[in-house]
Amino acid sequence: MAEDAILLYLEKSEEIPDSGIFASEFGIDHEEVINVTKSLNGYGLVLAQDIKKENWVLTEEGKLYAAAGSPEMQVFSAIPPEGISPDELQKKVDPSVFKIGFSQAMKNKWVERGKQSVSRKVQHVDDKVKDLLTQIQAEEVRRCPFLFGILIADIVHVMRSRFSCLGTSNIFQCCYLNSKRCSLINLLLETWKGYSICKGPNYAPKRKKAATDLTREHLQSGGWKDLELKEYNFNAKGLPPEGGHLHPLLKPQQHPARDSHDTFFLKEPSTTQWLPEDYVERVKCVHESGGYGSRGYGYDWKREEANKNLLRTHTTAVSSRMLYKLAQKPFAPQKYFSIDRVFRNEAVDRTHLAEFHQIEGLICDRGLTLGDLIGVLHDFFSRLGMTKLRFKPAYNPYTEPSMEIFSYHEGFGKWVEIGNSGMFRPEMLLPMGLPDDVRVVAWGLSLERPTMILYGIDNIRDLFGHKVDLGLMKKNPICRIGLE
Ligand code: PHE
Repeated sequence: MAEDAILLYLEKSEEIPDSGIFASEFGIDHEEVINVTKSLNGYGLVLAQDIKKENWVLTEEGKLYAAAGSPEMQVFSAIPPEGISPDELQKKVDPSVFKIGFSQAMKNKWVERGKQSVSRKVQHVDDKVKDLLTQIQAEEVRRCPFLFGILIADIVHVMRSRFSCLGTSNIFQCCYLNSKRCSLINLLLETWKGYSICKGPNYAPKRKKAATDLTREHLQSGGWKDLELKEYNFNAKGLPPEGGHLHPLLKPQQHPARDSHDTFFLKEPSTTQWLPEDYVERVKCVHESGGYGSRGYGYDWKREEANKNLLRTHTTAVSSRMLYKLAQKPFAPQKYFSIDRVFRNEAVDRTHLAEFHQIEGLICDRGLTLGDLIGVLHDFFSRLGMTKLRFKPAYNPYTEPSMEIFSYHEGFGKWVEIGNSGMFRPEMLLPMGLPDDVRVVAWGLSLERPTMILYGIDNIRDLFGHKVDLGLMKKNPICRIGLE
């Protein structure tokens, strides 16, 4: 609507001298006129030139007087025709304006003070201060500066008689002369921005709509040749992200949804006999309210849950134990490696068993980086014959950043996931007592999966468990790893 209004107006007239006046005449929001003008200007349909105006606006105190009347008027109005005792009068007037209003009313010779009472000296007075303030308020709303030139002179004139005017470049400060408190009425100069608009080099009464997408139809019909494509606006604001809620997985400590793998719990003994209490306390704190740069989970951490005995679901349990041990001594760099049995309470199929093995490695040293982890992974997997690696960001509650590891399988002709890795989080390492600058890079993989790939076995039950073919054991070389 604003666009049509501007372009059609310019068809008949040379210029829109003031976008503000134009907007109010056409009943369009000025912001909209501004935005459309910017866009039309960008395409050369119009030429827009900045105009700045300065408006006087009332301060909060000014607004109060514009509404309730000047202090002297408030005092004057409170005096009945028959007069009033000073005490009574004081009760009737707002205490914040009484003193100043009374002395100003005396000065204006509106009121007189007898022995017992205060009375009006004249029957009618004009509240010029209020009139001026309301006028300023009205002009401010209409944003019309021209009248202001005249008005300002008036204001200065009226104010001079009562205020000392401290003019600065953009603040017109008037303070009561006769008040020690110097309560201020500021008339602020507010900058207003708008445009004067005239035809641009590419002016047309209607803008040709630029295409935002190049479609299949455009390509097939050849229509793309005359297509005017909309330019990218790299300054456009994106949609504000909606969010701010915790995912349910982040909330419950003992909810099956939080476990990345289902667990076998022990019946006998069902709980641990001993835990290092100071460490438990730090872990509880980190889980509940975070720390070390983490926000924590924000739940009630339950000791009963942590006390439960279970079969480890991954060898990271072993790594954690080693790291805790390491933290109890003066720090020295370490490498750890494990191959061990893990247990997961999951449905058994051709690629899953409830028991299998994991391989895990970790390196602890001061100042290690993700680059070190990537380098080590290349070394490690190339020795297993896997040279083409790719990494994909992943999530582990104990590492950040985390990466899934993929290797290109020539036989399958595709990328296969072969492991998981990451840098142990500070909120895991620091409560153990490791020094601040120690970083731990780690990775883990199943023993069975790469072996199946290497030996071309497509059912895990043929490799491990009671269904294994004993012939396979006899026929296979001891180790094929590294042999092409
Ligand atoms: N524990 C992870 C898993 O079971 C592997 C891993 C080990 C990930 C060490 C990061 C660091 O998949």
